[in-house]
This record gives sequence, structure tokens and C-alpha cells, in this order.
Amino acid sequence: MVYEIEALGDEATREIAAAQDLEALERVRVRYLGRKSRLRALSRQMADLSEDERREMGQILNRTRGRIEALLEKRQRELEAVASDAVLMAERVDVTLPGRAPRIGRRHPLLAILDEMIDVLLGLGFQVAEGPEIETHYYSFPALNYPEWHPAMDEQMTFYVSNNILLRSQTSTVQIRSMEKQEPPVRIIVPGRCFRRDTVDATHSHTFYQLEGLLVDEGITFADLKGTMALFVRELFGEDMKVRFRPDFFPFTEPSAEVALTCLLCKGAGCRVCKNTGWLEIWGAGMVDPNVLCNVGYDPEKYTGWAFGGGVDRLAMLRYGIDDIRLLYTGDMRFLQQF
Ligand code: DAH
Repeated sequence: MVYEIEALGDEATREIAAAQDLEALERVRVRYLGRKSRLRALSRQMADLSEDERREMGQILNRTRGRIEALLEKRQRELEAVASDAVLMAERVDVTLPGRAPRIGRRHPLLAILDEMIDVLLGLGFQVAEGPEIETHYYSFPALNYPEWHPAMDEQMTFYVSNNILLRSQTSTVQIRSMEKQEPPVRIIVPGRCFRRDTVDATHSHTFYQLEGLLVDEGITFADLKGTMALFVRELFGEDMKVRFRPDFFPFTEPSAEVALTCLLCKGAGCRVCKNTGWLEIWGAGMVDPNVLCNVGYDPEKYTGWAFGGGVDRLAMLRYGIDDIRLLYTGDMRFLQQF
């Protein structure tokens, strides 16, 4: 019996050392110390022994059990340490790996050129004004002196949200909203998005940007408009830039003009983009119609003013060599990263 007990102790020692994880160790514990273990069976057999033998066996049994328990506990601590090391290893961060650079955005070409334009005009004393992209019929047409059913509205009465409400087709709507809110002098510029039912192709987009300017005060003349426009294009595109004014029609200005500037590509020599004229027709402009001043409650006998407005997209395309307007609105990062 002594021999068997010692053999059990050795066997348990080997198996405890061999247990590779906590579950295996628990199985060893049950096998050697559990209710159905050989050690328990032996201690039950002790009942048959004499008192002296029983005392001796009891000591040996207790010693062996104590030894097994101590080994189990030690091995358990080892395996627990290994397990937590494994967790740490799994969560390890390699601090020597190169970092993941966050993607840094940049200015969209449209907004970049708009910013430049705004900068120049801020320098001339204008302030930026804004208005809603979803506009009422009144601010879109009657307030801007469009006669009822005038054909000039045809290309603009397009994206209707309801009977009376539509996406604005020009930033000129903000002229009215701004003047309603203040008394002259008014010196505002309005950068913003506009919408028209244009068939989309390389040079047409249903969504586009305009920049509007409006100046109303006492004694303002057409000469101020010409001077401001000339300064504007020279500041933006260079000293040798020129502006050309030709008669045009807009309901909200009288007289009205179409403003062209020296072709940015050929510098006036004539090319495909300017159809060999040397000019790019970019803006509409004119003296604010007295009817418009009346509509906002200004006295047209006292105040005069001028306005200009037009597209920004084409200028951005010429400045950055972009040959398809649709690229400005796709949000394609591969395109945008180039600027
Ligand atoms: N809003 C006009 C358009 O989209 C452009 C325009 C013409 C703006 C004359 C003006 C102006 O401010 O005075 O075609």
C-alpha cells in the first residue's frame, strides 16, 4: 500500500507537470483528488488496518495528498500566467510599424477659385451674403421684375418642389432678400449653388455655382461697374486682362450688359475655347432696374446701383485645366487629390 501511494504521488507529479492548460490541469486534479480517485479509495481501505498501521498510512496519504495539492496549485499559477501572457501577446501593438496617415482633405477647385474671387471683392469693401437654395416663386421672379409669363423664365422655372417653391436658378434671388433686410448702402457678394434643368454634358450641369455682386448707394453709375469689373479680373487673372461690355437683357437690370473677359487660354489671340473671338462671356450685369428698387422699398429717385452675376464653374475649369464639368460634382477622390 505504501508503495502504491508513493507511485500515485509520482504519477500525479508527472501529469501535473505535463498539463498544458488549465482545463487539462483540472482533469488531473479530479483524477488524483476527486471522489472517485485512487487516493480516496485507499483512504477508505484504511478502515481495515490496525491502529498503528492506520496512523502510518494516514500520514503517508496526507503527505502525498498535500504534495499533489501543492503541485497543482503551483502549476495552476504557472498556467494562469501563461494564459494572461497569451492575451497580452495577442493584444500586442508593434510600435515600430509605420503609422497610418489620416487622409487630409483639400480645397475643392470650385471653392478654391470662389475663395480667390471673394478675397478680391472683400478687399473692395463687399460683404458676403447668403440666401436659401430652395426659394419661393416671388424671390425668384416677380421680385426680380420678371413680367408674368415672360419667356426669360423658361430656362429657369425648372426644379419645382411644390407649386410655389423651386430650387433657385440664379444667385440674383439673394439681391432681393439682402436689400429687404437693410437700407443702402448695400455692398454684397453672393457665392452659391444654383440649379437648372440643363441636359448634362461636358459643359453643362444641373447643379452649378454662381457669384453675384450688388452695389446700391447714392450716385452709383455704370462707370463704377466697369471699373470694378476691370479691377476684379486683373486681380484674379493678371494685369493684362480686359473686360468687354455688350448690350444684353435681364429683367432686373436696365440697361443690361453681357460681360466678357480676355480668354484665359489664348490671352485674347483666339482659340477653340473662345471660338476664335479672344473673349469669354462670363457674366451678366447692369444697373439695378428701378422696379427692383421699388420692390424692396428703396427710393429709385435717391438710390442707384449695379449688379453682376454669373458662373464660377467655367472659370474653375479654365484655371485648372478641367475639361469636363461633371468631374466637379462626382466627389471622386482621385480627381480631387490632383488640386
Ligand atoms: N442671374 C443672371 C443669370 O444667371 C446673371 C446676372 C445678370 C446677374 C445680370 C446679375 C445681373 O446680377 O445684374 O444669367
